[in-house]
Amino acid sequence: MITIKDKTFVPFISAEAIQTRIEELAEQINQEYADKCPLIVVVLNGAFLFAADLAKHLTIQCEITFIRVASYTATESTGQVKQILGLNDSIEGRDLIVVEDIVDTGLTLFEVRDQLLAKGPSSIAIATLLFKPTALTKQLDLHYVGFEIENRFVLGYGLDYDGLGRNTPGIMVLA
Ligand code: XMP
Ligand code: MG
Repeated sequence: MITIKDKTFVPFISAEAIQTRIEELAEQINQEYADKCPLIVVVLNGAFLFAADLAKHLTIQCEITFIRVASYTATESTGQVKQILGLNDSIEGRDLIVVEDIVDTGLTLFEVRDQLLAKGPSSIAIATLLFKPTALTKQLDLHYVGFEIENRFVLGYGLDYDGLGRNTPGIMVLA
């Protein structure tokens, strides 16, 4: 159990279970990209540990790059807009694997995928460590999913509560 600020979190997915599942996902990627050289696009900050552990088990040739997604309110009518920061590489004709920590409503990746598609990659696959199916509000194909979880707030292994807890080795859930 850990307490961060006003909230208490209890163990949910162990560090060992995460590693085992990541090795399975890596094996699947190794097979499906055996004759390709994908560009792995890691969404910071939350996916940093997942991406690092996944990358260690990839035996294919690949490039790895990092982006951030900034949310800002454009106008009252359009609401929140997501902007991709840090994508300096050309992605035209590339096979992309977007690596994310968690897909909750799916809004973030839905917009990120749209903006990446506009730059002419030859394919986009999404790898997410966690997925909350009941929270999803967008039609989004997820190719590699670590764990489907219920709609509860989680933290650890890269995911934060108010900036804290990213360094917890396993995933914890709000008690
Ligand atoms: P959407 O709703 O756009 O959310 O799919 C994606 C982003 O929201 C954050 N998020 C969480 N962070 N525990 C967290 O620490 C959670 O349970 C959680 N749910 C969503 C996360 O940054 C993700 O990229
Ligand atoms: Mg995130």
